[in-house]
Amino acid sequence: DAAGSAELRTPIVAVLGHVDHGKTSLLDEVRGSAVTAGEAGAITQHIGATAVPLSTISDIAGNLVDPADFDLPGLLFIDTPGHHSFSTLRSRGGALADIAILVVDVNDGFQPQTHEALDILKRTQTPFIVAANKIDTVPGWNPNPDTPVQATLEAQSDRAENRLNEQLYEIIGQLSEEGFSADMYWRVQNFRENIGVVPVSAETGEGIPDLLTVLMGLSQRYLKSEMSIDTSGPGVGTVLEVKDERGFGTTLDIVLYDGVLRDDDTVVVGGKNDPIVTDVRALLQPRPLAEIRTESQFEQVESVRAAAGIKIAAPDLDDAMAGAPVRVVRGRDLETVTAEVRAEL
Ligand code: GTP
Ligand code: MG
Repeated sequence: DAAGSAELRTPIVAVLGHVDHGKTSLLDEVRGSAVTAGEAGAITQHIGATAVPLSTISDIAGNLVDPADFDLPGLLFIDTPGHHSFSTLRSRGGALADIAILVVDVNDGFQPQTHEALDILKRTQTPFIVAANKIDTVPGWNPNPDTPVQATLEAQSDRAENRLNEQLYEIIGQLSEEGFSADMYWRVQNFRENIGVVPVSAETGEGIPDLLTVLMGLSQRYLKSEMSIDTSGPGVGTVLEVKDERGFGTTLDIVLYDGVLRDDDTVVVGGKNDPIVTDVRALLQPRPLAEIRTESQFEQVESVRAAAGIKIAAPDLDDAMAGAPVRVVRGRDLETVTAEVRAEL
């Protein structure tokens, strides 16, 4: 509608952390699918996006999340690779994020890419929580699948609980050395001033209800005012990947963070030389809850609304660049939009 109506968009959650600390496994656990198994090699080489609607979050979180208390539509997770060579991908994911999860293996504690991720979060001033992952590996741990943290802690021996606490306080100490005041999430009142630490296991699902509850609560409380978008406004996004796709030629995987993108839009994309002006041929969407980079069966959609991960098929994309801006022209002056894209490069 020409009047333009405002709506709340999905917050973008970046998952950051050192290699093998369990970023992809955590998302897998949330999705109930097994992307880890489908990954070529042990390291994640690409950023993917996963939308989790509020109703699913509420199902997983059980009585911790009542959908009636929230008006944000859910969360859009961006996975990032932990391997040291992918720092630009991490940086891009971090810059796009409204909020982040820093994943730390409770056995390993802080490692080089944990520090690097923290630097990105500091630089971009992104609010975040810490997922202290792999609690199931604590010696003597008694696993209680998919259970909230407090309940599973009550079912542990004193020895296992003490051991976990030592590891958690180690992480809290390391955050403190980095200048962040942190505590167990249930003791945190203001998640912007204090970093909440959520003990989790991507293997058993313990603490996952808590993780989603804290993310949802933090988003609702602190991000709501920034999540208002014009639901008919021209779309704005960032290119995550430039990819050849059988039958479609060169395509763009983008994260749309504002407005609407339609399958008949003209878009301007940052390129190696000048900005590229091109007409969208198709918008390709992975199925709900599927991971964009492992999805081969795309569904064509007429339009998509922020926030979303979407693949754009269009001519002349060969010179497009990962990390570059994408802007829809619709109803605006082409020169103005091109200048905006050039300014962002
Ligand atoms: P990169 O993408 O390479 O940076 O790694 P990642 O952080 O995505 O780690 P990934 O999810 O691939 O997990 C690495 C290994 O740790 C896998 O073998 C997982 O099965 C294992 N793992 C992840 N989370 C847990 C957990 O909570 N408990 C246990 N026991 N193992 C886990
Ligand atoms: Mg991974």
